[in-house]
Amino acid sequence: MDFNQTEDGKTDFGQSGFAKGHPQEELERQYYFIETCRQYVEAERKRLGRPLTAKVVTFGCQMNARDSEKLSGILAAIGYEKADSEEADFVIYNTCTVRENANNKVWGRLGYLNTYKKHHPHMKIALCGCMMQEPEVIAKLKKSYRFVDLVFGTHNIYKFAELLCRSFEEKGMAIDIWEDTDKIVEDLPVERKYPFKSGVNIMFGCNNFCSYCIVPYVRGRERSRKPEDIIKEIKKLASDGVVEVMLLGQNVNSYGKNLENPITFAELLQEVEQIEGIARIRFMTSHPKDLSDDLIAVMAASKKICSHLHLPLQSGSSRILKEMNRRYGKEQYLNLVQKIRTAIPEIALTTDIIVGYPGETEEDFQETLDVVKQVGYDSAFTFLYSKRTGTPAAAKEDQVPEGIAKERFNRLLEEVQRQAAKRANAWTGRVVPVLIEEVNEQDGSLVTGRMENNFTVHLPGGEDMVGKIVDVALKECKGFYFYGEAVST
Ligand code: 5AD
Ligand code: SF4
Repeated sequence: MDFNQTEDGKTDFGQSGFAKGHPQEELERQYYFIETCRQYVEAERKRLGRPLTAKVVTFGCQMNARDSEKLSGILAAIGYEKADSEEADFVIYNTCTVRENANNKVWGRLGYLNTYKKHHPHMKIALCGCMMQEPEVIAKLKKSYRFVDLVFGTHNIYKFAELLCRSFEEKGMAIDIWEDTDKIVEDLPVERKYPFKSGVNIMFGCNNFCSYCIVPYVRGRERSRKPEDIIKEIKKLASDGVVEVMLLGQNVNSYGKNLENPITFAELLQEVEQIEGIARIRFMTSHPKDLSDDLIAVMAASKKICSHLHLPLQSGSSRILKEMNRRYGKEQYLNLVQKIRTAIPEIALTTDIIVGYPGETEEDFQETLDVVKQVGYDSAFTFLYSKRTGTPAAAKEDQVPEGIAKERFNRLLEEVQRQAAKRANAWTGRVVPVLIEEVNEQDGSLVTGRMENNFTVHLPGGEDMVGKIVDVALKECKGFYFYGEAVST
């Protein structure tokens, strides 16, 4: 049975027997449901004579990765142990829908899960995240994927325990999708993937409506967290041993505009800079149209903000950029890059580029190649345009044939790689600070870490170095990564 849904699409638990007697204040309410779920899991554990296991599978971006840490935190609080594979008692896919192939992956893997569930009928399967915000996806699930137990979207992830509780108590597929929300619930459990670094959401949603992009439709309008909540979270992370934070938002440069007491992103960064124990600050993503001089000045003066900026270009053609509703042109973008490089000469610049946007001609594509050559990115994510139903670009008639788009994509990739290798090579022989992230998977005598500019470095070392920032001499450049050696200071 689906949940009762109110007219605005929200589930009305208030009227059901299930909901009676639980706390009304949101945080307290969710802890109440965590405790109730814990009792169900404990009962199952006794019945099966073994602990219950859960697996969270993440698709997509850093935002989703952070959401998955929240899901994992709640699952751990409920009493599930972590499973290594999807052969688990509870599996949740945190989905992405930014491009069609992200959706295809989920449909494919659901097929496998169905087969496994047939032999393990007590298993629960849950889906959440961006893809679930699409009405066609929900219709398809209802029609052909009835073995899925729990479905929710991006706005009500904080209700995970409540929804799970519901699915323990009622048979059938439980669906709860909201169209939007202005609610941000603080202080729920989180289980971090890395002890020494963490993502921190500073805002949710996007108001930009780039014509190709589905994100504003599935993540809703821009909402900023209060600076005091962000600072409190980062101070807590620092006291837990975190040395690097990545501030996350679809468009961090418009952070704080809609708060009761407005504050700029540059001001927020200055506050984060003061937090003792935090050695590195990263952030993403910056929209070029909103990148302020103040931000550049704060970055240039900072000792902690990494010398790296992810500045999505999307296209180098002013005509296509206008069609994309990006609100900057080629020259404006190049001027911005020049301004940034003048203030911070060694900064690493990375970008996102879409190839094959409807109506893109060879001349437009040449403009993109030209920007790549002029800027010389340290790395770039290149994407084939993917038609997303409901976006303005999807309705365009002049879609670029796949063969032409792919051929342009390959040429772009070649140029991007040439530039990136050139940029990387220039670091050879220098000594740089590296945050050691893990023991190398292939060779246990090596550890792997990251430079400020996000390049990967492998060097001799052991487990005891993980989470530390070490000065490393870069001995050899392998195109996109380095071999180095720790130097004693
Ligand atoms: N097709 C291809 N790439 C897309 N992106 C967003 N929407 C699409 C789409 N429809 C890319 C953009 C964005 C990145 C996260 O994904 O480059 O910056
Ligand atoms: Fe999508 Fe544009 Fe918003 Fe980025 S800024 S999430 S590309 S709409």
